Order: sequence, then structure tokens, then C-alpha cells
Amino acid sequence: MEKILECPSIGQYLSIIDNMYRLGWDERNGGNVSMLLSPEEVETYVPKETIREIPLPIVADEIVRGKTFAITRTGGYFRNTKGDPRKNIGVITISDDGKIAHLHWGFEDNGSFTSEVYAHLMCHATRLKVNPKNRVVMHTHPTNLLTLTHLVKLDEKELTLALWRTMTESIVVFPEGVGVLPWMLCGTNEIGVATAEKMKEYRVVVWSLHGVYGSGETIDEAFGLIETVEKAAQIMMGELGHKIVNDIDDEGLKAIADHFGLVPHPGYLK
Ligand code: 13P
Ligand code: ZN
Repeated sequence: MEKILECPSIGQYLSIIDNMYRLGWDERNGGNVSMLLSPEEVETYVPKETIREIPLPIVADEIVRGKTFAITRTGGYFRNTKGDPRKNIGVITISDDGKIAHLHWGFEDNGSFTSEVYAHLMCHATRLKVNPKNRVVMHTHPTNLLTLTHLVKLDEKELTLALWRTMTESIVVFPEGVGVLPWMLCGTNEIGVATAEKMKEYRVVVWSLHGVYGSGETIDEAFGLIETVEKAAQIMMGELGHKIVNDIDDEGLKAIADHFGLVPHPGYLK
């Protein structure tokens, strides 16, 4: 086996991408995931040579320059990624001037990184400034959360409270709430800037009528975050059109936050 495929976090990355497809979140080429590799992983598993230079559509922030990422291919299908990683993912290092991606491995047959590379690089930069341990940025199209954005007011406080009230785990997993963007054209600098701005405050940002962005220190954490928001959205979808008789009130939410030592988004609870 090629050395890079022996890297444990690359193994988890491929398994999670496979799971995302199985959950029905990533139809066709939907979704893209990038993961920062540690200097030890780069040293041990990543080939040193540059096999191709791919220009970046933006000048990457200083904080991500010289860093090495695994990132999914534009047009690649998550359904096929685990079975054919050499084609569907690439391992790139951002050049010192932030203008070029040095490809070390992958993107076989002249492929390139996701069209959402703007949001990925900008969100990595933002999250690394908030939390130097952040490694993963994940974009996907979870069915219930996406559907919900057709049906509810696109208001961060209202949506966060509604998601928190569905189940105990919600406020535990995303005490800062969820960021929400209106519908915007994807694959653009503008949506990248807007997502990264939200990521200063939130680890998860809903893209209305499209999907969601999540981030985390590990691939498991980013996935678990989106999975929990999606589960809460699924519960909300089941409740729509029904009169809600029981949900978790502010007192209950405060008790959960106190018990777990969490600070819920300021001003959201009475
Ligand atoms: P890519 O195939 O370029 O990654 O795009 C998929 C997607 O989800 C766009 O938002
Ligand atoms: Zn998408």
C-alpha cells in the first residue's frame, strides 16, 4: 500500500466520506472535505516531491501557507472516494506566497481541488486563528437541514433555539449555536468570505437551500457536529405541521449547559 494510505487520519477521512454518502448527504459530486495534516504526518506519510502545481483562485491567508491538506476533488463522487482515493482526493501544500497548491499525491487524471476551495481555505484560516487545533472543514448537503431552510425563517437565534429544544444533545454539541447564510451562489469568493466570517463565531454554518459547513479538530468531531445538527433538523421536520406539546424550555437548556460547564450563545436564553 502507498505510504499516504497508511496514515490513520487519512483512513478515517476516507471512512467518514463513505459514511456521508451512505447517509444520503452527498448525491453525485455533492460535498467536499479538507483536512490539515500535522507536521509529523507530513514527514512520515506524504511524498516530498511536487508532481504538479495548481494555481489557487485566491491568495491564501498567511496562516495556511506552507501547510499540507488532504482535500476532495472537484466533480468527484463521495460514493467512489474510498474505493479510488488516488483519483478522488489530493494532498497539497500551500505555497509560501499563498498563490499555488503543490500537489504531492492524488488527483489522478489531471483532477483538481473542489470548486469550494475558497470557503475551505478561508474557513481553515479563520478557525486556526480561533482554535490552533482545528484541522477539518467539511461541506455537505444533509437532507433534513437543507429541507428545513425552505420552511423556517432564516434567523440564527430562532433556528438555534428550535434546534436546541429538540433534544438534550443539541446544546451540548453546539452551545454557540449555528450560523446561517441566506442563499448565495456557491463556488465563489463571496460565499467563502461570508462563511469564514461566520466561522469566527460558529463551528457550523448553514448554507440556505444548499447545505452546511462544519469544522472541528478531527474528522470525527466535524462529522459529529453536522450529524447532531442534522438529527435535530430531522426531529424538527417530523414536528412541522404538528402542535408541539413538549420541548426543552430555557430553564432546561440552562440546566444542561450548567451541568456540562458550557456557555450557550449569549442572549439566546431568558
Ligand atoms: P465540488 O465537486 O467542486 O466539490 O462541488 C460540490 C459541491 O457541493 C458544491 O457546493
Ligand atoms: Zn455543495
